Amino acid sequence: MKSVCVLHLFSNKMVRSFRDVRQEEISLMIEKIRISSSLRVNLSEILVNLTNNVICRVAWGRKYGGKTDFKDLMKRLTRLLGEFSVGSYVSWLAWIDWIRGLDGQLIKREKSVGFEIDRLSIKAIILDVFVGGMDTTYTLLEWAMTELLCHHECLDRLQEEVRMVCKDKSGVSEEDLQDMKYLKAVIKETLRLHPPLPLMVPHESTHDVKLRDYHIPAGTHVMINAWAIGREAATWGPDVEEFRPERHLNSYVDYRGQDTELVPFGAGRRICPAISFAVVLDEVVLANLVHQFDWTLQVESTEYQTDVTESTGIAVHRMFPLFAMASPTT
Ligand code: HEM
Repeated sequence: MKSVCVLHLFSNKMVRSFRDVRQEEISLMIEKIRISSSLRVNLSEILVNLTNNVICRVAWGRKYGGKTDFKDLMKRLTRLLGEFSVGSYVSWLAWIDWIRGLDGQLIKREKSVGFEIDRLSIKAIILDVFVGGMDTTYTLLEWAMTELLCHHECLDRLQEEVRMVCKDKSGVSEEDLQDMKYLKAVIKETLRLHPPLPLMVPHESTHDVKLRDYHIPAGTHVMINAWAIGREAATWGPDVEEFRPERHLNSYVDYRGQDTELVPFGAGRRICPAISFAVVLDEVVLANLVHQFDWTLQVESTEYQTDVTESTGIAVHRMFPLFAMASPTT
């Protein structure tokens, strides 16, 4: 099933073929911000809508615009997936999940034997794509804009780069991205400090493993803390907690699963299959946002805006939506 998805949705060829969808949705987003630019813009909502629309269009060929029931369902689902299931760890306490209603609420996946694309598998894949794709992709953009708004020197540097590369252009196209080193460093630094899936998804060891002095028996539930790995002072230095994209400009460390210092997409066989899909979308959206507008936090609500409290759930985004003022540059 994974290879079917990789072939039809996530391969470099397919990702390139969705370029028009991304450009169209970005133009609509820019227009929406332009209309409300004298007012404060709810950036979180705008970014959720954009990523939802792009993913719906490429996966299903249509979008679900203003259908809040669909968005609410996704929200509930991602929160549920992040819930701690007591029964999975202490079987005789499974009744606690039943009382909490966790069992009844989750859409369960059955184990299928062999390879057979039945209705259930298709539903599971659709769910994987939506849960895996939507919250994560917009969360990265939301945190990138939050950090840039709190670190104006980084926003200025990014704007300078983007506007220099696209001097006489009305917007940023995907070909322009390769010349934007600082943009890529901003995305990397955001993934380091705010991996959208901080604990990834649970893994289970398939055989006994000895790791240093630890014996890990087959069947052990393994959680990998990508958040802590990105904040390891021994790797990243004493300023590990600071948002400083410059640290990546001359660094070999990348997030595509080869370097254990940075694993926001996981590594190995279960690595996220949609890295290119997500990164190109986030890069081109962020570049267009800073190309077309100057951004500031609302002065009177600075304290509230810089409150970076995180939500609960499998994907960790801002607890409070991000509002900002946008001034068009042309
Ligand atoms: C910034 C955006 C994204 C991040 C940070 C991210 C991160 C991850 C992580 C950490 C995993 C689990 C890896 C593991 O457990 O080893 C994963 C799996 C997955 N992701 Fe992503 N992801 C992103 C975007 C997307 C998008 C856009 C899609 C689809 C459109 C997607 C589809 C999937 C799928 C289907 C899996 C499950 C793969 C499997 O079960 O083997 N992801 N992702």
